[in-house]
Amino acid sequence: MLPPLPRWIAHRGGGSLAPENTLAGIRLAARLGFKAVEFDVMLSADGTPVLMHDETLERTTNGVGKVCETPDAVLFGLDAGYGEKIPRFSDAARLCQNYGLLANIEIKPAMGFERQTAEVVARLTAELWRDAQPLPLISSFSLEALEIARDLAPQVPRGLLHGAVPLDWSASRQRLAASTLHCAASQVNEQVIAEARELGVPVLAYTVNTPEEAKMLFALGVTAVFTDQLERCAD
Ligand code: G3P
Ligand code: MG
Repeated sequence: MLPPLPRWIAHRGGGSLAPENTLAGIRLAARLGFKAVEFDVMLSADGTPVLMHDETLERTTNGVGKVCETPDAVLFGLDAGYGEKIPRFSDAARLCQNYGLLANIEIKPAMGFERQTAEVVARLTAELWRDAQPLPLISSFSLEALEIARDLAPQVPRGLLHGAVPLDWSASRQRLAASTLHCAASQVNEQVIAEARELGVPVLAYTVNTPEEAKMLFALGVTAVFTDQLERCAD
């Protein structure tokens, strides 16, 4: 079942206040009073799920090349910023559980690894949260990944994730039994909000970095927003 959603979700761990998708970011979000964090999960060359947004290492680490071609022995030795390491998904999961944070696990497969990534992440999510609350929320731009999550971890709620919301989103929502709809803040409109309200589906918008924009979105009917600006945006 979908846990209660806070209005603010820290994006990529600690947003822009800490190296993205790191344990330091998650700790910071918790310390600042956030009740939920979003992070991206991808597979290493060894098939280990790790927190990583880009398919390549250059932007966020001192490594080079593709994440899906980098073995764990190399990956876990890299600097992900200010001495932080690339976290294993399992370590991030346990940290969220220790803080009582709602985790939004975004399955972020490298191209061609949709099935493999979703299978690993869904199975591990089910195992890691077997006795833990609140259950996390799995989302992905990949409908294939969500389908696999539905089949392998049906008890874990899923969120449809889109940039612009396609006209037929409610058909995918039904097929995937998704609980939430996530989309780019710039693409939120009255029609989407009205359709979602009709279906009882909360809308979550990314990435919202000013309190003014968030206020406008909440007034429109958005339930929660993802933010990089943790110090400016919170209740
Ligand atoms: O899950 C919301 C948001 O994180 C999607 O965009 O590119 O930051 O993963 P991205
Ligand atoms: Mg993301």
